[in-house]
Amino acid sequence: MTTPYTTHEYDVIIIGAGGAGLRAAIEASSMGVSVGVICKSLLGKAHTVMAEGGMAASMGNVDDRDGWKVHFADTMRGAQYINNCEMAMHHAKEAPERVHELEAWGALFDRTKDGRILQRNFGGHKYPRLAHVGDRTGLEMIRTLQDHGIHEGIDFHMEVTVTHLIKEGNRVVGAFSYEREKGRFLLFKAKAIVIATGGFGRAYKVTSNSWEYTGDGQTIAYDAGADLLDMEFVQFHPTGMVWPPSVRGILVTEGVRGEGGILKNSEGNRFMFEDVPPNYQSSTADNEEEGWRYVTGDKHANRPPELLTRDHVARKIVKEVKEGRGSPHGGAFLDIAWIKEHIKDSESHIKKKLPSMYHQFMELAQVDITKEPMEVGPTTHYAMGGIRVNADTQMSTVDGLFACGECAAGLHGANRLGGNSLSDLLVFGKRAGEHAALYAKEHGDGTIDAAHVDTLVEEALAPMSRQDGENPYAIQHELQDAMQDLAGISRSEAGLNEAIEKIHALKARAANAFAPGNRDYNPGWHTALDIHNLLTVSEALCLSAVQRTESRGGHYREEYPEKTEEGSSYNTVVRKAPDGSMEVERMPVVPQTDEMKQIIEDNK
Ligand code: FUM
Repeated sequence: MTTPYTTHEYDVIIIGAGGAGLRAAIEASSMGVSVGVICKSLLGKAHTVMAEGGMAASMGNVDDRDGWKVHFADTMRGAQYINNCEMAMHHAKEAPERVHELEAWGALFDRTKDGRILQRNFGGHKYPRLAHVGDRTGLEMIRTLQDHGIHEGIDFHMEVTVTHLIKEGNRVVGAFSYEREKGRFLLFKAKAIVIATGGFGRAYKVTSNSWEYTGDGQTIAYDAGADLLDMEFVQFHPTGMVWPPSVRGILVTEGVRGEGGILKNSEGNRFMFEDVPPNYQSSTADNEEEGWRYVTGDKHANRPPELLTRDHVARKIVKEVKEGRGSPHGGAFLDIAWIKEHIKDSESHIKKKLPSMYHQFMELAQVDITKEPMEVGPTTHYAMGGIRVNADTQMSTVDGLFACGECAAGLHGANRLGGNSLSDLLVFGKRAGEHAALYAKEHGDGTIDAAHVDTLVEEALAPMSRQDGENPYAIQHELQDAMQDLAGISRSEAGLNEAIEKIHALKARAANAFAPGNRDYNPGWHTALDIHNLLTVSEALCLSAVQRTESRGGHYREEYPEKTEEGSSYNTVVRKAPDGSMEVERMPVVPQTDEMKQIIEDNK
């Protein structure tokens, strides 16, 4: 007898309940279609909360020279000009409206003295641009969207993991999933599907991502025939915790540097003053005067070099460690306590601006950040690459399948600016929800072949049906070690090829993964199912990285440390070949219009 499953039916289903998924759900629901949201974890637990420092939107509340054109130019520069310029335009123009809308829905932002939304400095942004709520901005965003969404009549299916999309021709018509708690199977029928599952930091050993982030959305889309784009570009956030070992990788918000935190090596030097790019408005002298002007909010003060883009800062920290000037546990010192020399009652100031960081270090590392420096080092934080989507509609290369947020690619190119992710989630979550709803209205129900669903059930149960086999945790750990060592911040052809070989070997072992026990809350079984996703995104990443023979943004090749003309002309596409193998090809970068070129030139 075949294993039973429950069927749910919606016009639109959204897979993922972080900022992008919730914003998409709200938009689709407001257009009068039925919406179901599926989330792998509990509602409210999303990587969105790890965007602590703020959301970028050029409202000009702190510096009135800011505007969407400057934000557009900053995003293009940060992305090293291989991002989708049309998405960058939408994002820069629409972000302020999305922030105001969030405020109207109840988000309580920090305020300027005259009562407007306060904005702070962040890396790569020319002016203070990040609307924030202390260092809990992502959390406030999720809370607000949840509150709003709950009242829209949206159904939520929590602790449910989607393993496959189901198609009819080239159109997606459903999703197959299991419930975490009891292992029951669920089939979702839908006229349109939005994937908003976030990234795949769990492919690495050191990451700010929690257990859910295993590349599920990218993999089910790829398996369904969608293109993946720019998978070689991964962001290593410069500041994660490095000590004690149990908390290695937990994020230390860029907001610390945004509030005046400085980076020093074991010799007490502010090493970020070396290699400051010529057009960066920063003093070249290692003096604290600059930092002081900056902390005190003089808008004409130069920006400190700690706020160079994340790719640059992360590599500089690694260099200090490699050359023997690291902190005791292999990182650098991040000091916010120094502002006490210039700010009255700096202790309360730090606790007010960075409350989570204060508690995080106090409780996890017994470090009082108002008095002593933190030890920090790079942590895998964000995937710039992901599902290729249309710039206007967010539809992937599969009909009826949309993607938004971190699992979609295009906006951030080779490197994302901090704070651009929260605004990305809102801007493109809204667009994805709107276009998915329109698609659902224009298309009838699809048909799902019951025999096909039975094979998906069987496939899902396979790790429990075996008498023996491979330990899924061992496979996951070996993959994480290989990715960390061979496809991390610094890559080489030999290392990437070794990683690819390892992935192929692990794939063969994963086909024989064994998870004893039954379907009742069985984490070994869940890991056995997640492994396919981690291996798929890792292979896509390494194949993309090996063919990009230059260094750009988050992708650094030891043998090719410079950017090339050729590298600026293309994006990398990965898709499933008819024989099931993974193929990689190059696609020309979306060309800039004359207007865009002028904006970039005017805002250098
Ligand atoms: O450092 C942070 O607060 C992270 C922000 C982001 O990734 O956008």
